[in-house]
Parts: sequence; C-alpha cells; structure tokens
Amino acid sequence: MLRSHTCGQLRISDVNTSVTLCGWVQKSHNLGGITFIDLRDRYGITQLAFNMDWDKSLCEQARSLGREFVLQVKGTVIERESKNKNIATGEIEIKVSELLILNQAITPPFTIEDETDGGDELRMKYRYLDLRRNAVRKNLELRHRMAIETRNYLDKQQFLEVETPVLIKSTPEGARDFVVPSRMNQNQFYALPQSPQTFKQLLMVSGFDRYYQIVKCFRDEDLRADRQPEFTQIDCEMSFVEQEDILQTFEGLTRHLFKSVKGIDIPTLPRMTYADAMKNYGNDKPDTRFEMKLIQLNSAENNMVGGKNFKVFDEAETVLAICATGAAEYTRKQLDELTEWVKRPQLGATGLVYARVNADGTVKSSVDKFYSEEDLKKWVTCCNAKPGDLILVLAGAEEKTRKAASELRLEIGTRLGLRDKNKFSALWVVDFPLLEWNEGDPNLPESLRGRWVAKHHPFTSPKPEDIDLLKTNPGAVRANAYDIVINGVEVGGGSIRIFNKDLQATMFSVLGFTKGEAQKQFGFLMNAFEFGAPPHGGIAFGFDRLCSLFGGADSIRDFIAFPKNNSGRDMMIDAPGEISLEQLNELSIATK
Ligand code: AMO
Repeated sequence: MLRSHTCGQLRISDVNTSVTLCGWVQKSHNLGGITFIDLRDRYGITQLAFNMDWDKSLCEQARSLGREFVLQVKGTVIERESKNKNIATGEIEIKVSELLILNQAITPPFTIEDETDGGDELRMKYRYLDLRRNAVRKNLELRHRMAIETRNYLDKQQFLEVETPVLIKSTPEGARDFVVPSRMNQNQFYALPQSPQTFKQLLMVSGFDRYYQIVKCFRDEDLRADRQPEFTQIDCEMSFVEQEDILQTFEGLTRHLFKSVKGIDIPTLPRMTYADAMKNYGNDKPDTRFEMKLIQLNSAENNMVGGKNFKVFDEAETVLAICATGAAEYTRKQLDELTEWVKRPQLGATGLVYARVNADGTVKSSVDKFYSEEDLKKWVTCCNAKPGDLILVLAGAEEKTRKAASELRLEIGTRLGLRDKNKFSALWVVDFPLLEWNEGDPNLPESLRGRWVAKHHPFTSPKPEDIDLLKTNPGAVRANAYDIVINGVEVGGGSIRIFNKDLQATMFSVLGFTKGEAQKQFGFLMNAFEFGAPPHGGIAFGFDRLCSLFGGADSIRDFIAFPKNNSGRDMMIDAPGEISLEQLNELSIATK
C-alpha cells in the first residue's frame, strides 16, 4: 500500500502517529510562513501543514502545487490550533516531512467543490471529474448501499440471483428496441432486453421458484429526468403466489430499504385502485404527500356549474376543481401567471377560473358575472374549502382536463411547499385495466388503425372474475397488476402472469396477433407453458428511480455513474458514433 491511512480516518487520538497519506490537492492557502493544503480522497479531507521554519524547501515545494495534483505525503499527526468542526478530521493536521508528487494535473474545467461552477454539459463531458465531487460520489455510495441491502433482503427470502442474456429477441414492453446486427447471421438482429420478462417467466417453468436480478434494461424512448435509455431494474419473480403474496414480499423489501438505508419506519402501504387514483388525482402515480384531491363540479348527480349561461362550463365534458389550502392571498399577477402556466401547449388548458374564500367567509371569483355568492358557496362546501383557501377550476374534455388538473395540483403542491423531499409517502396502485385502446398512427388508413394493446405487457393475467369480459368488453377487464408509487414516482410495477396456454392464446388474439404471429414471436414461451408452468407473478423496481428518490433528487442521472444526456448521448466517450464502412459491410448493413 502506498498509504497507511485514508484522508478521512485520522482523529485527535492519533496525535504523534507517523502516517503516510495519498490523495488529490483540493485547495491550498498560504498564511505568512505557513502553507496549508487540503488533501482529498474518497473518504474525506485531511489538512497538511508546511512551515518555512520547519523546512523551507518543502514549504516552497508545497506552494508550487496545483489543484488536483496527486500526492503522497509522510508526516506526523499533530493537534490543530484552529479546529474545524465541520469535518471529521478537523481536530488534527499532518506536519509533513516528505512530499512526493505522484502525478501532476492540468487545471480542471470546473471546480471540484460541492457547489461547482460547471454547467451540466461540461460536467457530463468530464464525468470522471464530476465523480470526484462529494455530492455525486455520495449518490453512488447510496446506490451501492441500496444494492447491498436489496441483495441481503432477497437472499434471506430465498431468492436466487440469476443472470439472463443481453443479446435477445425483442420483448414487448411498449418501447422501441435497441437492436444489434448479427455478423454471423446476416440481415438478422438481436434486440437488447427492455426487461428480462420472458426469461424470468421461463425460470419459473424451470422451478427456480424465486428469482431476482439487479439488471440493465434498454429502451429506445424519449428521455426525461426519470428516464434513461439504459437503466437498472431490481427484477423479481415468484412461483406459487397470488397478488397478495407479491405485495407483502415487496412491501417488505421497501420497508427494509427505508429502515436500513435511511433509518425510517414507513407505515403499511395503503392500496388505491387505478380508478380512484385517476378520479381523485388525475394520475396513476399520485403524489400522496398532500391531499388536494380533484373535485368534479359537474358530475351527473351534482352539477354545480351548469345552466348559468357560462358557456365554457356548460359545454365542458369535465369541470374539475382543486382547493389550494391557504392560497387565497395569491395576487392577481400570480393568478395570471398560473393561468399562462396551464395554457402552455404541454397542458393545453383553455383557461383557469378561480374563487377566493376570504377571511370573512365571503367568496370572490373570476366568474362572478355568472355565479352568485350562493352558487359559489356550493363550490366551497363541495371542495371543503376554508377561509383563506383558493379554489382553482379547469374545464374541457375529460382526459385532457384531468391530466391538466393533475399537473396543476402538483405545481400548486410545489408552490405551497407540500412536496418535501425528506417526507415519503408510498402506496400500491392496484386493479389496472388490462388493456388500453391505441388510436394508432393517424396517417394509416382507418381499417389499420385502432387496436387494443396491453397496458402492462401481454403476459399479465386478467382478474379471474373479469375473464369473460375479454371477448365482449375488453376495455372493462381489470388486470392482476400493481404499481408501487412513492412521492408521485412510479418506482416499480408488476403483475400475476398468465400461465395457461389457452388464456395466453386468447390474450394474443385480443391484442390482434394471428396464431402464426403469436407463435413466431412468443412460441418459445407458449411451448414452455405446455411443460408444466407453475402459477407465478413478479415485479420490477426502477433501481435508478428508487435511488434518486432516497437521495432526494428529481433526476436519476446523478445516481448513474456514466449517464446519457437528453439526446441519448454519452458526452464523455462521444457515443453513439459512426462505424467504418468495413464494419458496416461485415454486418451487411452498408447503404452503399
Ligand atoms: P415496467 O415497464 O413497469 O415493468 O418497468 C419497471 C420499472 O422500471 C422503471 N423504468 C425506468 N427507469 C428509468 N428509465 C427508464 N427508461 C425506465 N423505464 C422503466 C420504472 C418502472 O416502474 N417486466 C416488467 C416488470 C414485471 O412485470 O415484473 C417491467 O419492466 O420505475
């Protein structure tokens, strides 16, 4: 070893010990005849002291060192005169007797500090320097801890970690595949797995009983803060179980992670049906850190807005209100700004109506022309609004309006400080629809458009009591599928699988596959089911999302050592890139 201790290790009890440390120059400062250098490694920072009176040439050498030089120093631990309570080694420093420059460094393009001056792109390009920063390194340490604790828990529950292949045939998870041309099988392509779904089901047929894998998955889809083209799942499958067993087992994993990594005891996870989530939150991944549910003002049983000559509400399919607690003081300017916010093309609302509940209980709205105080009081009662609250109302087509109201709810929640990153609210969303109607490409002839697609994936089992509806009313069939949602983030999802060959064939036929197509694409799985498939089900957690949530961040990028940017590029290695004509020819995909 080139060192006796790390830069985070020495304490007051080590005074007078002779030590050898290695690390990077974080910063140096000169005070008259004394020079201090902060030496940094993964474990911390230790102050090195040089003094003209102790050794002039050594002190001068220390003054010539640049930021990020790599050093080895020998010396003695001494007590510091001015102690630094903010760092673990803050009571001591090293009186250096020997200094060896192990390597020089050119000036980094941004400061290696917690608050760096480097922009996103620059930090991505020099990711290896960004990873020297405490904040990013800590995120990866958290990720490591999460992976260890996941393995600990699952190992205790008898799960076996099995690796599945990366060069496979397309799996239907709803995104586009990344494909890899095969040199040995000309004009044929592997696909990178969107998940190991079919393999884990085959492992159940093999009798592995409980499988897991912390595994890379690949999806060629549009990127967002919580999506990367390659990401990691904690992928799991169990045999001889029902939905309840899966929910219990993975609620256990979630609880174990919160306890062991963050020291938090989370309460039993509530269960919410998909239908309730959509009705109350306009969203299948509700942020339940705060209430502020969506309230329909024009329901068939209780229409509080119709027939008052206000065309916008009269003609709207849906009129939805949210009650922003304590927001009656919003200024005209703030309300105008919020109105512009909901009108952005991403939300596409036509406008925003508001009603303030004043301190004296009177109500003032932006539609006073149409609604009397008495009318407005009905809104207040229905929204359970209190003096000081602000009712915000959106109207329009059902789907679009509910989505906009959901976004508005989150925005108001953020503005009112209700989305504290240190508070966690986890739940299960259950009873998802099995299928959803896909309008398809509007450029196609109508006869080719519109079909049912699996909401989760085609192996998801319908609820037994809904199976008969498959042929008559597919949209009404509920699935034995569930998502785990924490703070409005879909952290994981899974289902009980179809294990009966005939039911699987019916499912493929509802999805519009001919027998031949189904056999060609999934024959291997359907054939396997003929050899005694056990009832089984599983779940996959988005590991990057789980880590960023535990780390209190919105973006998963900083929890991935070498992430891609929003265009799917690795800025550091400059990928994707072109390949030579020779390679293209060899793969028989050259265009000329
Ligand atoms: P699903 O497609 O819901 O299910 O994926 C499971 C979880 O993976 C995470 N996730 C992502 N994370 C980062 N970037 C992405 N592009 C991305 N896409 C998905 C989400 C999601 O909840 N095979 C099934 C699981 C099963 O049925 O057992 C599956 O992959 O957190």
